[in-house]
Amino acid sequence: MNLLNLPASALCVLIGPPGSGKSTLAARYPDTWRVCLDFYRGLATGHEDDQSATPVAAEIQALLLDARLSRGLTTLVDSTNLLPHVRAGLIARARYWQRPVAAVLFDVPLDVAEAQNASRERVVPRHVVRELHQLLPTVDQLRAEGFGTVYLASEMPATANAPR
Ligand SMILES: Nc1ncnc2c1ncn2[C@@H]1O[C@H](COP(=O)(O)OP(=O)(O)O)[C@@H](O)[C@H]1O
Ligand SMILES: [Mg+2]
Repeated sequence: MNLLNLPASALCVLIGPPGSGKSTLAARYPDTWRVCLDFYRGLATGHEDDQSATPVAAEIQALLLDARLSRGLTTLVDSTNLLPHVRAGLIARARYWQRPVAAVLFDVPLDVAEAQNASRERVVPRHVVRELHQLLPTVDQLRAEGFGTVYLASEMPATANAPR
């Protein structure tokens, strides 16, 4: 299963604000391909949005990332990944293991992200969606950071990223 034609053994970084569709796309792939800070915060505390568990969630994510990349297993990072230093850390791990690195940029308009966020089970405060939406990088920026392939959610066929 490889809807995006990801290169083999790739690290694929999903980038987008809450409500932009990252987890919906990740759900089209096998569960084991996905690492996700929200999920690990939830495992640690019972609440995916409990930011006090971000450090432990980041440690779990880093361990699983290395475990998978070392084995050449395709891995999707289902977190916002909107901060350049977070993306740099992920690219560094892919480089260390000599794996190709791809990005999916969820370039959805703010009103769409807000509406989709409002329709979710766990609604993120609106101002947070707005602030994070402003951090969306450009394709050129992502290429300059070292992403070999950049997919745009806006250019994906509807069947690839719509909820099932
Ligand atoms: N392409 C799409 N078309 C319509 N609804 C979508 C699409 N992608 C996601 N959604 C809906 O938007 C909401 C947020 O999507 P989600 O994948 O949870 O976003 P994220 O993981 O980026 O926060 C969900 O209810 C999901 O069903
Ligand atoms: Mg999500």
